[in-house]
Amino acid sequence: MNSKKFYITTPIYYPSGMPHLGTSYCTIATDTMARYKRLQGYDVMFTTGTDEHGQKIETNALKANTTPKKYVDAIVEKFKSLWHTLGISYDKFIRTTDESHKKAVQKIFKKLYDDGKIYKGKYKGWYCTPDETFFTDTQLVDGKCPDCGREVTWTEEEAYFFKLSEYGDKLLDYYEKHPEFIEPEGRKNEMIQFIKSGLDDLCVSRTSFKWGIPVDFDDKHVVYVWLDALTNYINSQGYTSENETEFKKYWPADVHFVGKEILRFHAIIWPAILMALGLPLPKQIFAHGWILFGDGNKMSKSRGNVVDPIVLCDRYGVDALRYFLMREFSFSSDGLFTNEALINRINFDLANDLGNLLSRTVSMIDKYFDGTIPENQKEGNVDGELINFAVSLKKEYETKMDSYRFSAALADVWLLISKCNKYIDETMPWKLGKDPNEKDRLARVMYNLCECLRIISVLIEPFMPNTPEKIQSQIGADKNQCTWESASQWGVLPRNLKTQKGEPLFPRIDVKKEIEELNKMVEDSMKAAANKSDDKQEETAENVVKLIDIEDFAKVKLIVAKITECEPVKKSKKLLKLRVDDGKDGRTVVSGISQHYTPEELIGKSIILVSNLKPVKLCGVESNGMILAATCPENKVKVIFADDEIPAGSEIR
Ligand code: MSP
Repeated sequence: MNSKKFYITTPIYYPSGMPHLGTSYCTIATDTMARYKRLQGYDVMFTTGTDEHGQKIETNALKANTTPKKYVDAIVEKFKSLWHTLGISYDKFIRTTDESHKKAVQKIFKKLYDDGKIYKGKYKGWYCTPDETFFTDTQLVDGKCPDCGREVTWTEEEAYFFKLSEYGDKLLDYYEKHPEFIEPEGRKNEMIQFIKSGLDDLCVSRTSFKWGIPVDFDDKHVVYVWLDALTNYINSQGYTSENETEFKKYWPADVHFVGKEILRFHAIIWPAILMALGLPLPKQIFAHGWILFGDGNKMSKSRGNVVDPIVLCDRYGVDALRYFLMREFSFSSDGLFTNEALINRINFDLANDLGNLLSRTVSMIDKYFDGTIPENQKEGNVDGELINFAVSLKKEYETKMDSYRFSAALADVWLLISKCNKYIDETMPWKLGKDPNEKDRLARVMYNLCECLRIISVLIEPFMPNTPEKIQSQIGADKNQCTWESASQWGVLPRNLKTQKGEPLFPRIDVKKEIEELNKMVEDSMKAAANKSDDKQEETAENVVKLIDIEDFAKVKLIVAKITECEPVKKSKKLLKLRVDDGKDGRTVVSGISQHYTPEELIGKSIILVSNLKPVKLCGVESNGMILAATCPENKVKVIFADDEIPAGSEIR
């Protein structure tokens, strides 16, 4: 068994919306790390997945007229397909709807309950009935629901609680003894402050929605999403299964990569749960920054930028997008995404620096040596510096990678690329090529450049899974000459190297033209979105049925009434004023049907009347009720007439 193991995780993503560039960011960083560790010879476990339960998914599914499971199934496929496109080499994809995960969560919940770490209590708060959500005092806006602005009521609901309040000191003590546990440092301080301000027990069950894992010994309750979600990290490794060795193979995780806004769940709640279960804690939690999209928005909705990862991969290639995301932003801080920055990186770093270095080198070998470097070679006095830099680069790079400074690691590699370009300027192969006495020297210059390109190709592999092979085939290197070990060795390629000119690695992009095209795409997609949202509004109004209780319906008093008089309302194109016999004193009702009926067509007819509506004034006429009518295709309105035999005033039930 390989004694070097490395277990790394992404958060599990909510499939309440499509995966986007923001969610791709952490996944690509995790993949980069996993690939790097594999190259180093580690036995890597890289997990990702989807966090599928909760009220939001339940509501979204209802709106989409489908079941929660069908709803998430479709989106999970989109996640998997995007990860495939982006070359994400995960070892396990966890869905919280997996049977094995559900069983494990139930066992964990029961164990914590039996051990007295979870107890039954009352969840108290301001409840917004239409939104089915609890709020605290401070969350309310002017005493009303912060989401919909409606009245809230003080409610107490039975719920289970995890005794988080008992873990404050233990956590602080742990942080102190393990200074590397939370990174970056600044974010750790936020956690310390949060704990010091006092931890409340954590509500870990809900009865207000059903889409969750039932508490098996009290199935009115479903497990609240964070307990369900966080335990994916151990359940994916077989925690609670019979096979202890399997679980211990990778747990504790070496690092959880998480976005900064969910650090609190990972740095406080998760370790407390693990302590309660008597399990070792992950070695590190690293909170990364957000990619922002122009308007300070973390989500991948952007004004003015094309941000769809699939579109970007189509246009520029997967490796270019991966390179950009890891190079442009420092992993621990926020960064602003723009299409210009992406195109500039592709043009400067990839097409100019790396691409040109390769194509110049291989073209010169073609031109001067017909594609094969001669074995007789002569050293020059500038070689030493380049070689030293190249062989010591891996160590520098590893230091940065091991502290997740991806951008800095890439910057190091690009330093070697620029040193190579400088080496070409200094050695002036075009001059050497003209002098038959300098053939051996020229051969060595070419060989050195190929050796550097070999090292570069190995070091970029974690970031750009497809490019190394292209470089290696052009410089005529074998896979076994491009191992991780070989990245700090010199003279690995045979002296009489045969090269093979190929396509440019990264074609240069015409910035002006490209930006124009992208702007056009943004405009088109905004127009399409605007049309879609109009359709959606209609759809929402017409098709999405908000369910009500029978008591709600019972509040509406419907009666049959007979139209006795009818005339248009002056000053109005739409309204008719109707006098109806309601079985009592009669009443006046105003209805917006004058474009569909003449008064003559209505007088004498029986209709259905909502009789207990509060009176309203329409164009100066008081209306006491509403007559029922159907809206038909092409916006035609048809009044629902009742059987003439039914006496006026009869109630409809
Ligand atoms: N389901 C929880 C995580 C549970 S982990 C046990 C969740 N899901 S999420 O889909 O909302 O977010 C997942 C991750 O995506 C978070 O780490 C979040 O920071 C990250 N990102 C979402 N948009 C992002 C950017 N624009 N930029 C970088 N990362 C962002 O929270």
